[in-house]
Amino acid sequence: MTSDVRLRPVRDGDLPVFFSHEQDPEANWVAAFGPADPADRKAFDALWRRIRADPRVVSRTVTVDDEVVGHVLAFPIGERTEVSYWIDRRRWGRGYATAALAALLRELPQRPVHARAAKDNLASLAVLRKCGFVVRGEDKGYANGRGAEVEEYLLELPAG
Ligand SMILES: CC(C)(COP(=O)(O)OP(=O)(O)OC[C@H]1O[C@@H](n2cnc3c(N)ncnc32)[C@H](O)[C@@H]1OP(=O)(O)O)[C@@H](O)C(=O)NCCC(=O)NCCS
Repeated sequence: MTSDVRLRPVRDGDLPVFFSHEQDPEANWVAAFGPADPADRKAFDALWRRIRADPRVVSRTVTVDDEVVGHVLAFPIGERTEVSYWIDRRRWGRGYATAALAALLRELPQRPVHARAAKDNLASLAVLRKCGFVVRGEDKGYANGRGAEVEEYLLELPAG
């Protein structure tokens, strides 16, 4: 079912599709640590200009049967590499995020790789677990998607 999930470099024409994915209120609530104002197209465009201009960031469009269904990112936080992902809500629960993250991890030479997820973002935690991540700690911070402080897990994909 997930064999047709592919990654490719991000094209200009993908950005309006990513933006539309991020207009979904439920997705923003689940993600918790998403954009301050999901409807702010200028902020979205500025963020993606920075993402695409930074050679240390690996950004990929996720396609299924050549249709854009989301994106995955690997980006530096200090000395660490963190991953994140977003899939169109209409397509949740089909294994796309798991397949896309697994494909991104195959592209990344470095280990460990880190991630963080709100403690109640059970789908994201399931995706990370299926890709080999383990919980290493916890944190909390202000979450735009909730307008409140939210607890999160810090996860790691260990070397080897
Ligand atoms: C998190 C997200 C990427 C998952 O995408 P997806 O394509 O639906 O993920 P998959 O289908 O690959 O896997 C989802 C897993 O979560 C599980 N799951 C989903 N909802 C769940 C719930 N409420 N409780 C428990 N498990 C749940 C599914 O059963 C599945 O696991 P399984 O295959 O072991 O059954 C998607 O919900 C999303 O884009 N959310 C908004 C952005 C976001 O939260 N990004 C991550 C920030 S840390």
